[in-house]
Amino acid sequence: MHIGPLLIDRKTPLLAAPMEDITDPPFRALCRQHGADMVFTEFASSEGLLREARKTLNKLDVLENERPVGIQLFGHRVEAMVEAARITEAAGPDVIDLNFGCPVKKVIAKGAGAAMLKDPDRMVSIASAVVQAVKVPVTVKTRIGWDDSLKPIVEVAERLQDAGISMISIHGRTARQLYGGTADWSMIAEVKNNPRMHIPIIGNGDVISPETAREKLDRYGVDGLMIGRAMIGYPWIFREVRSFLETGTACAPPTLAERLEVSLGHLERSISRKGERLAVLEIRKHYARYFKGLPDFKPFKLQLMKTETLDQVKEVFGEIGRAY
Ligand SMILES: Cc1cc2nc3c(=O)[nH]c(=O)nc-3n(C[C@H](O)[C@H](O)[C@H](O)COP(=O)(O)O)c2cc1C
Repeated sequence: MHIGPLLIDRKTPLLAAPMEDITDPPFRALCRQHGADMVFTEFASSEGLLREARKTLNKLDVLENERPVGIQLFGHRVEAMVEAARITEAAGPDVIDLNFGCPVKKVIAKGAGAAMLKDPDRMVSIASAVVQAVKVPVTVKTRIGWDDSLKPIVEVAERLQDAGISMISIHGRTARQLYGGTADWSMIAEVKNNPRMHIPIIGNGDVISPETAREKLDRYGVDGLMIGRAMIGYPWIFREVRSFLETGTACAPPTLAERLEVSLGHLERSISRKGERLAVLEIRKHYARYFKGLPDFKPFKLQLMKTETLDQVKEVFGEIGRAY
């Protein structure tokens, strides 16, 4: 698959979705190590970049061990998005991804993210201006529409392609659906099967297992799959899906020793980036899934949720290792 000049040398590329508070550099590197073909940063606010807000600038950090990586931007003003894209390009991503799909209130209230689906002219103006302003390929992540009565994705995708966008990832929900209901992949397939489209179309939404990946691919024929929630605390999802797609059998799930080692490494790398307190707090989101399937795990999970230091986490991990 080609994203502009960037080659992703796989029949079916597996992409790790951009996710706020999840896809920081240590986790992105883990996803790549475990079979993701490409990763994306958490979304960065164009206005935050222009203000040089520390938290936003940190989101531009990309490391060699995670390439190819896309840095994702969101915003509403054309000029701010162009300036932010220039700043972002200097950070050296392989692509710049534009977020036209976030349904969170504080984002859509400013006319950004998924609100852009109600204003395709502005969406296309931003896309076109950013494409002109930078040399790296520019991609888009969006949803099928705003609500049940406004699903403009087929026309919008054509216009984005005409504006020079190199790949579109589509989450098969409307903004109004947030994360409820099920993703409707039929509209993603409509975009993919539109004879005018020639850029890669990536399907996203509810790929949660090797079997769902196979089913989506067979039924909807997209160029690649993007996985979000199923990778939280479970970067092994990528190698499991890959193995199933290529051989028809899923590879063995990770052993407990592997889970403990990978999650501890994840925490230690996070600590060196953001300090012990924040890293220990943030990794809590991953625990339930790092230890998915262990019987009677609840007491350990409760203990992990109370940890505040690396030493405390190591102590509970030791107990988990002895208990199973
Ligand atoms: C906690 C969380 C954070 C997210 N952050 C982002 C983000 O920063 N940028 C983005 O484009 N989508 C974001 N998303 C949406 C996901 O990338 C993805 O489109 C969505 O979860 C559907 O895919 P899934 O069913 O595989 O999870 C986020 C979703 C969740 C649940």
